[in-house]
Amino acid sequence: MISIEKAEHPLKGDVFVPGDKSISHRSIMFGALAEGTTEVTGFLNSADCLSTIDCFKKLGVYIDHAVRPTNGVPTITVHGKGLHGLKAPDSTLYTGNSGTTTRLMSGILAAQPFDSMITGDMSIEKRPMERIITPLTKMGADISSVMGNGCAPLRIGGGKTLHGIAYRNPVASAQVKSCIILAGLYADGDTAVYEPALSRNHTEIMLSAFGADIHNEVARDGSSVAILHPGVPLRGRKINVPGDISSAAYFIAAALIVPGSELLIRNVGINKTRAGILTVLTQMGADITLLNIDESSEPKADILVKYSHLHGNENNQFVISGKEIPTMIDELPVVAVLAATADCETIIKDAQELRVKESNRIDTVVDNLKKMGCDIEATEDGMIIHGGNKLKGADINSHDDHRLAMTFAIAALGAEGTTRIIGDECVGISYPSFFKDLQALM
Ligand code: S3P
Repeated sequence: MISIEKAEHPLKGDVFVPGDKSISHRSIMFGALAEGTTEVTGFLNSADCLSTIDCFKKLGVYIDHAVRPTNGVPTITVHGKGLHGLKAPDSTLYTGNSGTTTRLMSGILAAQPFDSMITGDMSIEKRPMERIITPLTKMGADISSVMGNGCAPLRIGGGKTLHGIAYRNPVASAQVKSCIILAGLYADGDTAVYEPALSRNHTEIMLSAFGADIHNEVARDGSSVAILHPGVPLRGRKINVPGDISSAAYFIAAALIVPGSELLIRNVGINKTRAGILTVLTQMGADITLLNIDESSEPKADILVKYSHLHGNENNQFVISGKEIPTMIDELPVVAVLAATADCETIIKDAQELRVKESNRIDTVVDNLKKMGCDIEATEDGMIIHGGNKLKGADINSHDDHRLAMTFAIAALGAEGTTRIIGDECVGISYPSFFKDLQALM
């Protein structure tokens, strides 16, 4: 448990957030499947990404996990095995709390000549896996939920010939899309994954840099589609992981909740499929400026945020919905906290995916914000936040959800009295030094 008091002084200074979680996972996975070595700098050294490393070590991949003493930035070297070089694991692959590891690995395992089992912690064993079982089965894979409940543990039978498919995913999910694409690398034909809105496209960007023939398009009906023509070997390369915008989101919110604050968050990934929080908060009146923009395939920038008064439109309303949702799905909890203090009513809709994250983030965010005195209601696909609340300190249950623990640490900075976060150690899943970095600004 950690206790946090209301911030007495403005937050000022520079912040470096750790590497992007989604990109870090993929660097290990694609590096393992490539020929030659892949050197990754800026890798996120957190529990989730270490689960990915552990799984590939069990599959016979040598991963050199050294920390560079000069600047403390971890550098990982992955000695790739090529698409067909993985070995059968001796035991069940354990993915901890990581949905990305579980779903992407399953796509790879479905194409291997050996059998495997994959599972994770209690949260993973409750998250929906039918969404990958269905398309993988259509591709010819042998994959099933051991308990028959559509969740992990998953048993994956090896030695199947996979076929390319055109799959229309009902939800915008990068984990599902990436799982199918990874299986598609081994298929005997092209694979296309359609989604109602473009979910994060790190897989498409990075696989293409590794040499794969893959690209995104907008389909005639307006949906987004990722198209993969398999048969090209992957080649190892250097990867520099930018800072994670999902981690930067907590400092953006901190600067917007504590009057007089000004923070410069350095080297943050601003890929447009991830940067919805910047657009939405700017529309709500936040003073956010991007500096030193680097337009690489994974663009990055320094983000300057100055304390601002947040508001809605002329009707005192603000709606977050539709195609915006996947671009800020992991940031919605902290945006809800900002909306609680904003001068408007905020409606978050089309966000039913929040119910199947590390916790049911519609219920857990609403319950905890109510405890802090906020006027808020849960809806089936989001929440309605009646703004203008004066937050008060409360006992917050993180539900072992890292994003909840960090979200309410930020809410605490703007709340009268003391906030205690129960189960704060889960921040290690994506941001082990979060509390230390926050403390350094106070
Ligand atoms: C992720 C995709 C998103 C996101 C998760 C990471 C990824 O999940 O919420 O934290 O790395 O592909 P969904 O694909 O389930 O939306």
